[in-house]
Amino acid sequence: MPLSPLQFVLNGREVAVFAPGGANLLMALRDLVGDLSPKFGCGQGGCGACTVLVDGEPVLSCVTLAESVAGRSIETADGLKNGPHLHPLQTAFMENFAAQCGYCTPGMLMAAKALIDKNPQPSRAEVVEAISGNICRCTGYEPIINAILAAAGRGERRA
Ligand code: FES
Ligand code: FES
Repeated sequence: MPLSPLQFVLNGREVAVFAPGGANLLMALRDLVGDLSPKFGCGQGGCGACTVLVDGEPVLSCVTLAESVAGRSIETADGLKNGPHLHPLQTAFMENFAAQCGYCTPGMLMAAKALIDKNPQPSRAEVVEAISGNICRCTGYEPIINAILAAAGRGERRA
């Protein structure tokens, strides 16, 4: 399969790879760049495990063409922490027991980040809506919703 050069910004850092034609963004991030934080769940746009932000908007990277993000800014869960300091969402997930197996967690965190970056004081209904495309098989969702509300309630954000 022919390879095409692809450049984008990942968590504030310029990256350049050669991607096979038709490759999806999840494959490019995991296999070409080595960022394993977005997860492969269904591969069909149905579970949210692969959620990343493209120019601040949540997208399902398994159904996003890699070439469509050329020159754009991608955020993944790997970029949330600041050195040894967790992002407030990560702290809130920990404190609220919002992760069990953790497979859905990177996608949940990114969906939540997209929400509170735009809407720092979301209602419970807005949190539920924001994560409605993200499936969790473990937690029953309540701890996740509580964690997102807790992070938002602190008024803590990081660009
Ligand atoms: S792996 Fe992308 S939505 Fe399930
Ligand atoms: S913590 Fe296991 S799928 Fe959500």
